[in-house]
Amino acid sequence: MVIGGGIIGLVTAWRAAGRGLRVALADPEPGGGAARVAAGMLAAVTELHHGEQTLLGLNLASAARYPAFAAELAEASGQDIGYRACGTLAVALDADDRAHLRELHALQQASGLDAQWLTGRECRRLEPMLAAGVRGGLRVDGDHQCDPRRLAAALLLACERAGVFFHRQRAERLTVSGGAGGEARGAVLADGSRIAAAATVLAAGSWSGRLAGVPPEALPPVRPVKGQVLRLRMPERYAPFLSRTVRAVVRGGQVYLVPRENGELVIGATSEELGWDTTVTAGGVYELLRDAHELVPGLTELPLTETRAGLRPCSPDNAPLLGPSALPGLHLATGHHRNGVLLTPVTGDALAEALTTGELPAEARAFSALRFAPGGGAVPDPGGPGRPDSPGSPARPGGPGPSARQEQPV
Ligand code: GLY
Repeated sequence: MVIGGGIIGLVTAWRAAGRGLRVALADPEPGGGAARVAAGMLAAVTELHHGEQTLLGLNLASAARYPAFAAELAEASGQDIGYRACGTLAVALDADDRAHLRELHALQQASGLDAQWLTGRECRRLEPMLAAGVRGGLRVDGDHQCDPRRLAAALLLACERAGVFFHRQRAERLTVSGGAGGEARGAVLADGSRIAAAATVLAAGSWSGRLAGVPPEALPPVRPVKGQVLRLRMPERYAPFLSRTVRAVVRGGQVYLVPRENGELVIGATSEELGWDTTVTAGGVYELLRDAHELVPGLTELPLTETRAGLRPCSPDNAPLLGPSALPGLHLATGHHRNGVLLTPVTGDALAEALTTGELPAEARAFSALRFAPGGGAVPDPGGPGRPDSPGSPARPGGPGPSARQEQPV
């Protein structure tokens, strides 16, 4: 069974069902979760950080799968997910921003990535709504977008059509057989019913670290990182208001503007370590609008249609925890932090492989859920020491886990 019906739980269930497994999923509101808030940038290149070169490999692998994944999901669900190969422009507003972007460009080039330096004038030629003060930027034609709400809705439909059984309830407790040396056997739901399963996938986002019954050595070390996001409506009469994702670092904070074909303009996002708080604050909205306005002054004329806050599930190295855990029968699919939408295709494939063979595929092994378990051997990323919160993505294979057996549901 899969615990959690956000995009990561749903893609896991869909892909597992596609491999012939019988799958049940528990979530009071499947299709909800962090994807309700996310902007949907597929930003492997523009969100590159020092020390995250191992994660970059997984991000690029997932980005490369997106066109085929979007087409397959549209076929399976009858729904379009708003995948848009529009590219991204990262711009600088002052000398500090420009130095920051130059450093990012050097890292991108050292990593063999495609990014082109533009003058301010060249940036404005591409995006005429940009402020006159833009000092330069990076054109990244390979960082695209999809609509996370449409992605979640399509995955939900695809799961239903693939025969995934939905328990629209919260999983209260993992069921573990025996004492020491036990195995995960499914979960007890909020109404007290027990769901038996040969394999259980914990994909409950930030809440994954809180499920009762999971022994400490298998509990994922994830914490919530709050993001506040705004939605505006672009006028039809300026077509297009922005033609691609535009982003910047303003006074050290990230701001991005993601224009959708349906006229929605998503502005994100704050990054706040405030525990489980999801309050939309005046300060958060103010800072986002202030920074976005510096980039694109004309946006203050647009209707503000929504403000929302969500929680990114963040692991100690900012990278996801995938596959078999320290408890036999329990797999993890959590900790995707800023990259949940981007990593959806590769996560579905990796978990389906782990559930059917007991092992993660090669591209996902560095993200084994075992790397933080006692003796799991987390090691620094070979790409460098990185930021204090940057991943030490280990090159440690996920150990063999129990194959999902067909006679009991997953
Ligand atoms: N990847 C964008 C964010 O997490 O805000």
